Amino acid sequence: MENRLACVLGLVLLYFPTDLFGSVMVAPGNHLAVGSNVTLTIDPQIDINAGTWTHEKALIVLFFDSNEKLSANYRNRVSFNRTSLELSIRSLQLNDSGQYILQGIDPAMEIPVTLIIQDPISNVTLKANSINVVEHNDTVSFTCSESSGTSPSYRWLNGSSVVTAGDGVRLTDGNSTLVLDNVTRYDEGPFKCEVFNKISNGTSQPIQLNIRYGPSDLTVVLTPETPVGHTAYRAGSNITLSCSAQSKPPALYAWNFNGLSLENRGPQLSLKMVTVNQTGSYTCLAHNNVTLRSAERTTFIRAVVPITAVSLKRVGKLPIQGEPFTLRCEVTGPVANIYWRMDGKPISPNNKTFSLDNTTMVINSTTFSDGGDYHCEAVNAASNMTSQAYQLLVNFGPETPAITSVNISKTEERVTFTCSASSQPTSQFSWFFKGSRVATGPVYETCPLTLASNGVYTCEAFNNVTGRTSNATKMLTVTEAIKSVTVNQSTIAIASHNLTLTCDVNGTSNAIYWMKNNRSLEPSHTENSTIFLSNNNKSLHFVPVQSSDDGNYQCVATYLLYPHLSPQYQLLVDYGPVSVNISLHGPLVNGSQITFTMQCHAESRPTTTYHWRFNNQSLPETSSSLVVAKSMKNEGNYTCLALNPVTKIEMSSTFNLNVSDHSPAPPFLSSVGLILILLALSQTL
Ligand SMILES: *[C@@H]1O[C@H](CO)[C@@H](O)[C@H](O)[C@H]1NC(C)=O
Ligand SMILES: *[C@@H]1O[C@H](CO)[C@@H](O)[C@H](O)[C@H]1NC(C)=O
Ligand SMILES: *[C@@H]1O[C@H](CO)[C@@H](O)[C@H](O)[C@H]1NC(C)=O
Ligand SMILES: *[C@@H]1O[C@H](CO)[C@@H](O)[C@H](O)[C@H]1NC(C)=O
Ligand SMILES: *[C@@H]1O[C@H](CO)[C@@H](O)[C@H](O)[C@H]1NC(C)=O
Ligand SMILES: *[C@@H]1O[C@H](CO)[C@@H](O)[C@H](O)[C@H]1NC(C)=O
Ligand SMILES: *[C@@H]1O[C@H](CO)[C@@H](O)[C@H](O)[C@H]1NC(C)=O
Ligand SMILES: *[C@@H]1O[C@H](CO)[C@@H](O)[C@H](O)[C@H]1NC(C)=O
Ligand SMILES: *[C@@H]1O[C@H](CO)[C@@H](O)[C@H](O)[C@H]1NC(C)=O
Ligand SMILES: *[C@@H]1O[C@H](CO)[C@@H](O)[C@H](O)[C@H]1NC(C)=O
Ligand SMILES: *[C@@H]1O[C@H](CO)[C@@H](O)[C@H](O)[C@H]1NC(C)=O
Ligand SMILES: *[C@@H]1O[C@H](CO)[C@@H](O)[C@H](O)[C@H]1NC(C)=O
Repeated sequence: MENRLACVLGLVLLYFPTDLFGSVMVAPGNHLAVGSNVTLTIDPQIDINAGTWTHEKALIVLFFDSNEKLSANYRNRVSFNRTSLELSIRSLQLNDSGQYILQGIDPAMEIPVTLIIQDPISNVTLKANSINVVEHNDTVSFTCSESSGTSPSYRWLNGSSVVTAGDGVRLTDGNSTLVLDNVTRYDEGPFKCEVFNKISNGTSQPIQLNIRYGPSDLTVVLTPETPVGHTAYRAGSNITLSCSAQSKPPALYAWNFNGLSLENRGPQLSLKMVTVNQTGSYTCLAHNNVTLRSAERTTFIRAVVPITAVSLKRVGKLPIQGEPFTLRCEVTGPVANIYWRMDGKPISPNNKTFSLDNTTMVINSTTFSDGGDYHCEAVNAASNMTSQAYQLLVNFGPETPAITSVNISKTEERVTFTCSASSQPTSQFSWFFKGSRVATGPVYETCPLTLASNGVYTCEAFNNVTGRTSNATKMLTVTEAIKSVTVNQSTIAIASHNLTLTCDVNGTSNAIYWMKNNRSLEPSHTENSTIFLSNNNKSLHFVPVQSSDDGNYQCVATYLLYPHLSPQYQLLVDYGPVSVNISLHGPLVNGSQITFTMQCHAESRPTTTYHWRFNNQSLPETSSSLVVAKSMKNEGNYTCLALNPVTKIEMSSTFNLNVSDHSPAPPFLSSVGLILILLALSQTL
């Protein structure tokens, strides 16, 4: 029966070699695990009157019309749906892999599908040939294995990153072995392997390597560091050297000083109160007692005694203009370099001369531009220190001494001389007159002057730093003081007489002149009078003197340039009388008595005396007025005699009294009017 079916199938294959219907075989996946079930479905469904299912050309089922014939090999594991043409296979085995074909004879067609049946991966195990290894010395080989699994693939993980073959990393045995040649410290892992095929996967437990390495990358840290800007430590410092190395297990440390081993063990070396003798090479030795490797690092430490004092000292004389000057920088402590500054700026060596070690600075010829603040700074490897300022003040002088004072003075006065000179420091002054020292100090006030004080005064300026002296001189002219000047009158001043005024000077004068009413009086000559000076202007002559010469006279006596004025002298010239007039007043009624008054007036200096005569008979009256009763017997000539007692000039005037002419005044006339009338009458006489 089966042979016959095979014959039919062979015929079918001859006639219908390909799929003409566009249907496909549907399986849940091409890769299937051992033991699983699979159903091969045709989609979309088709109708086949006669056909076969084969596996790798071995018949599974033959069908035609409503008949179906299962192969004996599959009878227990396979079910076939004649309607849908689905083929279900249960409990798949590895040898169920291969091509399955649904073949139609009527109609002729063919639908293939390939199934791959795999064992799942199980029990993935990772082994390493060695876990405790030494860097650069050991090669580690990892082997990955699984208890079961078809077509396993391998993938390696270091931590979470995938390991690929490369530098020092090899994958062998179909990637199931990982070899790390000459492991490094970075190869610690953890390492895992993953095994997978198309249907399953598995991961091993991790393995961590214990890689011992080092010592390497030695560093030595000094605490503290050397002072900023310096290369050495100050002697007496405490220094700690801390050594560290990359090492597993941790390195063991030892120290050498200048090649000789120190007792100190451990990563830190403490140097207390270092001395200069502790300057040298310090070597940190690191040893790993597993890798049996060693490393070392050498550090140089220098200890220097610090500079503790710096000062600037003058050598020799103070700085004097034009003279050499030397400054020395004195340092306590070892010095490497000395630097000088003036007013904060470095001193250029071409301005000054420095000793080779810079400890002294010489200015060959001091100038004012050398004045300023000097500092020196001493430097060594561990310290630096700057001196306090030396204030260089250039001493000089005295130059251009000068005396200020009056040029002329007079006896009894005091004169103040002031001397000045350009000088640093201030000069000391001495005063000399006629060869002897008379005073010290810049100001000299004389005693009250005498004529012997006349002469040349010398101021000597002395600078006790420069040791220099300068002189200035001044000529003082002393004049004799005029003690008093007065104007005196030689004779009484009487008009038309000659008069001499004299200027009397108590003291010496060499010039006299005269003033009248505060104006300069000049000699004059007129028709009536001459005024002239004689006796070196001491005598002022009026030839003759006149009333117009009245006034305030002063004489001015000078000696050299000092004027001395006399008090004002009032000149009053006596004269006259120059006119005598008699005036009549009245008649005046006094009760029953009627009187006339005759008033005599004479112009004169001094005032005249008066005498009266009546008809050449002297009357006793001596006043200027004469009262006469109205009576006929009193009619007659009245003469007024006016005598100037100084000039001895007498003048008279006569008045004729006629009583009848002088009736009592009409009542309407005022007495003033009457007087005027009488005056008019008297004038006509
Ligand atoms: C395969 O099919 C049989 C019968 O239907 C069933 O007993 C078995 O559990 C199935 N196996 C799997 C893995 O599904
Ligand atoms: C066969 O397939 C048809 C169509 O899919 C379905 O209706 C029928 O129930 C199936 N027969 C069996 C026995 O599973
Ligand atoms: C897993 O594999 C290891 C070594 O290959 C073996 O000793 C062990 O018995 C296996 N375990 C299982 C459950 O197969
Ligand atoms: C491993 O180290 C040895 C000896 O140090 C050397 O000869 C070899 O070349 C190294 N191998 C690799 C892969 O670096
Ligand atoms: C081994 O792994 C590499 C990737 O790391 C892969 O390219 C190669 O095909 C694998 N070899 C085998 C035999 O599986
Ligand atoms: C390993 O198998 C699980 C299921 O068994 C799957 O979820 C996972 O993606 C697989 N991993 C790889 C790397 O294939
Ligand atoms: C250095 O150490 C000594 C002793 O420990 C201590 O007496 C001294 O003060 C320290 N000197 C400095 C500068 O810290
Ligand atoms: C330094 O060394 C010299 C000779 O090597 C020695 O004379 C001196 O005392 C030492 N000084 C100190 C402070 O140790
Ligand atoms: C290495 O040194 C450590 C610390 O001194 C010690 O504990 C350890 O036993 C030593 N190991 C070997 C292998 O000498
Ligand atoms: C490193 O390897 C050399 C030879 O390759 C061996 O002599 C030496 O002992 C090894 N060192 C360690 C620490 O294992
Ligand atoms: C002296 O001073 C000059 C200028 O400041 C400097 O260049 C030089 O190094 C100094 N020399 C010494 C020995 O201090
Ligand atoms: C130094 O000398 C230069 C010229 O040689 C001059 O210009 C400068 O002013 C001088 N400096 C001082 C501080 O004297």
